[in-house]
Amino acid sequence: MGFRILVTEPIPASNIEFLQNLGEVTIGKQGQFLTEDSLLEVIGQYDALLCMLSTPVTSRILEAAKKLKIVANFAVGYNNIDVQAAHRFNIQVANTPDVLTESCADFTMGLLLATTRRFNKAEQYLRDGHFTQWEPMGFLGMELAGKKLGIIGMGRIGQSFAKRAQAFGMKIYYHNRRKLAASIEQLTQATFVDDLDTLLSNSDVVSLHCPLQESTHHLIDAQRLSLMQSHAILLNISRGPVIDEKALAQSLHQGHIGGAGIDVYEFEPSVDPDLLTAPNCTLLPHIASATHETRTAIGQLAANAIAGILNQKDPSDIPNLIPTS
Ligand code: GLV
Repeated sequence: MGFRILVTEPIPASNIEFLQNLGEVTIGKQGQFLTEDSLLEVIGQYDALLCMLSTPVTSRILEAAKKLKIVANFAVGYNNIDVQAAHRFNIQVANTPDVLTESCADFTMGLLLATTRRFNKAEQYLRDGHFTQWEPMGFLGMELAGKKLGIIGMGRIGQSFAKRAQAFGMKIYYHNRRKLAASIEQLTQATFVDDLDTLLSNSDVVSLHCPLQESTHHLIDAQRLSLMQSHAILLNISRGPVIDEKALAQSLHQGHIGGAGIDVYEFEPSVDPDLLTAPNCTLLPHIASATHETRTAIGQLAANAIAGILNQKDPSDIPNLIPTS
């Protein structure tokens, strides 16, 4: 007891109540901890940090965090945390795998449908009072059955999205660090494509589900966008910097690709002004995992890792800790 825990933003009440059984919980105001300096000022007081993907947890912060034993990210992606530095300072890092798989896969399916069937433009047309007659040639989009879907990053979310796309009659191909076990390929009906450029040039829809790492920064750049077909749709629910956002905006404006459904941005929360004006896009504010069920489960998983570490549980018994590399 007597632990101090900082939660950088308001999260579900049940998560906070759980953490309050461990010690004193401070909850930041929305947007309070978006900069290194804001966290640096206070981090020395805390034993545990539960932070958002928008909180940069740098080596400077970790060095100043003299009492800190764990950083639990309220997200599955943890590119905002300098994990190597944390481990150097004997601070554990946790993420929240599994619990957001279904919400993110549902969302990707919705993003695909919204983009191919032009939901946002059509709704705006109706709201603006233009729906005065049924139009045989109005708002024509792309049908999914029989189309080729290329998934880049075939982890849990990629696989779950593949199952949904399969139900819509799509043919599924994937590019991944390694080929998956035959049993998973069977379940997802997905075919491995070792060469990323081949996947890009053959797909009607390309969907990004890979983590952001050095090797995936600007994985989709101007050159790779130029390989895509002019009707093809690009979806991104992974991390913004996986795409060169300027190049994407240009490619959309020039009609080199057919459209894009985007939930994450290179310099989030900023969105490139050219992307805002680009045609055939669905642009959403990083909400893929935003369901009541998932956000509560994310908070609980992060809180469980904090409880485990503060109660000196063996780290190998805490399933969502990031292993030391
Ligand atoms: C959301 O983007 C997450 O990584 O959990």
